[in-house]
Amino acid sequence: MGRPPAGGKAEELTRAAPAEDATRAHHRTDRLAARRRFDEVECTVSHLLRFPHPALRGRRYGEALLHGLADRGIQPGPDGVLEIGGGAGHLAEAAWRGEAGPFTGSRWTSLDLSPALLRAQRRRLLAEGADAAAVPRAAHSRWSGVRADALALPLRSGSFRGLILGNEMLADLPVRDGTSAGAVQLVREVSRVLSRGGAAAFTEFGGDFPPAAVDLTDGTRAGEHTEWSIDFRQLRAAAAECQLEVEELPLHELLGADLSVRCASYTDLWRLRRFVSCEVFAAPAEEVRRRHPLLSRLLALELPPLGSPRWPDAHAAAGFAQLFRAILLRQRR
Ligand SMILES: C[S@@+](CC[C@H](N)C(=O)[O-])C[C@H]1O[C@@H](n2cnc3c(N)ncnc32)[C@H](O)[C@@H]1O
Repeated sequence: MGRPPAGGKAEELTRAAPAEDATRAHHRTDRLAARRRFDEVECTVSHLLRFPHPALRGRRYGEALLHGLADRGIQPGPDGVLEIGGGAGHLAEAAWRGEAGPFTGSRWTSLDLSPALLRAQRRRLLAEGADAAAVPRAAHSRWSGVRADALALPLRSGSFRGLILGNEMLADLPVRDGTSAGAVQLVREVSRVLSRGGAAAFTEFGGDFPPAAVDLTDGTRAGEHTEWSIDFRQLRAAAAECQLEVEELPLHELLGADLSVRCASYTDLWRLRRFVSCEVFAAPAEEVRRRHPLLSRLLALELPPLGSPRWPDAHAAAGFAQLFRAILLRQRR
């Protein structure tokens, strides 16, 4: 694992590259509070499942994901986990405070372009700031944060002995001429830095079709940006060119998720939150009905099964079980 970028490199990140991709610029200059981003602008699956959940056999999303990787022979190695685009830091926290098999308590480095999200991760993992004052907690002794760009990892070639993890971050990388150009570049970057025996895992929405744009907003300008579904054919081809061993599977299979469990969708939560304050979390259907008996009926909350095309978003063409994939890359050279 290399050192965090020196001052000069960090300064470079604060400047716009010539003809910078608009989504990159959005993250590089991000000032939005993490809670607002993930509750209001872009509610990720990992955010909706961040607390222990019956559909994940009582595990948090991060615990289920890391168990799924360990079950497939992927280990933290001496360098632990390098997480790219960790958002609010829930995966790192699940591996630190939760039970994540061989990843429990392992060394964890978070690399992110967003200054606001790196601060949120630091607060969560190092128990710094207001949260720490409210609920005194121990700090993660093996966590560090690095502000850098996923497409220029601050690591020497062949040096990283562990897992590179990117959960729902590929969609933020640039698309050019109808191709998942940024995600393909990241596969090449991962191949460059992984040492023999190292591995990478990325999850994202997409499939064997060209990238399609998704415009995200909370109705104000602050969080507006565009993400792109991933053309997984291009990722597999790039990995094969780099001689990485590739495995692709539905994300729900990697998590071992029970798709029959009914729970709140983002659409249900959005409707409920117009009347009451509640956590943006995929609470199980019975819990929602018990807490909000009248509103559940009045609003005709759907509370669909996790495997429904209407979860997490009733208005989307397909859902988590149909669209979210995981790609695992292993360095054998
Ligand atoms: C959609 S959020 C996902 C957050 C989290 N992994 C989750 O599952 O909720 C995308 C994350 O990738 C980061 N990101 C976007 N573009 C990046 C880039 N070029 N380099 C590094 N991080 C980037 C964002 O700041 C954010 O933390």
